[in-house]
Amino acid sequence: MKRSLVIGVFSAKGGVGKSLIASNLGAVFAERHKIPTVLVDLAAGLGGADLLLDVQPERTWAALLPVMDELMPQHLELAVTPHASGLHLLASPEVPDLHADMQRPTLEALLAALGQEYTLVLLDVPTGLGVLNVAAFHLADIRLVVMTPDAPALRATQRYVGGFAQSEKPVGLVLNQYGRGAPVNPKEIGEHINRPVYAVLPVDSSAVWANISYGKPCALKRRRGLGHALRRLASATLKAAKRNALWEYDSSSN
Ligand SMILES: Nc1ncnc2c1ncn2[C@@H]1O[C@H](COP(=O)(O)OP(=O)(O)OP(=O)(O)O)[C@@H](O)[C@H]1O
Ligand SMILES: [Mg+2]
Repeated sequence: MKRSLVIGVFSAKGGVGKSLIASNLGAVFAERHKIPTVLVDLAAGLGGADLLLDVQPERTWAALLPVMDELMPQHLELAVTPHASGLHLLASPEVPDLHADMQRPTLEALLAALGQEYTLVLLDVPTGLGVLNVAAFHLADIRLVVMTPDAPALRATQRYVGGFAQSEKPVGLVLNQYGRGAPVNPKEIGEHINRPVYAVLPVDSSAVWANISYGKPCALKRRRGLGHALRRLASATLKAAKRNALWEYDSSSN
């Protein structure tokens, strides 16, 4: 059975930039690296990947729940929404209750089916430590844990990552919205969490504004700033996937 690489984007605190990062990585993998990639927005009720990509999904993964035990390529083809970059989006349903139906066995079945069709599966995972979040954390091959440089995020991330301390698979800490005046720097964060910061992404309000207003991933459109940092993160994560390690990313030149 074919199996794809599964990269999950997680966070302990909400609103730190998971969907922005996941949608941009997906667009870069698909357009620049020509890797057949699907982005699964797991945040039922609150998902935002469709907004960031400016697509209007006709179906979501809710349509797959009744056929999860017998998923065929045709089911997936009908459920995904293509983006101009070549990325496919499996959008999140509007109904929050559906999280109860998307638990570990269902997610495993979905990943197995997607593995037949795509080389890379990106998961935009809801915040925190819910059942689906924990399942996704265990099933992902690579986990990018996003945080912002502030005390509440730092403490929550320390607890979150600490809770998965036994995990043998790579965890890469991504510090997003980092800029001048941040109360902590990447080195201090690494020391506090006992894990090096894997990548630093700058505050870049104009890139994010354009991304959200026009649905054009800034990693495909912007030469500098956040766009550049996101492209670097995409390349480094692919290289790390080959080595099964995330520690050699050099964020100093971001
Ligand atoms: N590097 C950045 N520079 C400036 N603004 C940013 C950056 N990253 C994220 N943002 C802002 O943070 C907001 C939240 O981003 P996003 O929706 O991706 O977070 P999230 O972690 O997916 O949230 P949720 O927990 O609700 O799913 C964005 O609308 C954007 O305004
Ligand atoms: Mg989100």
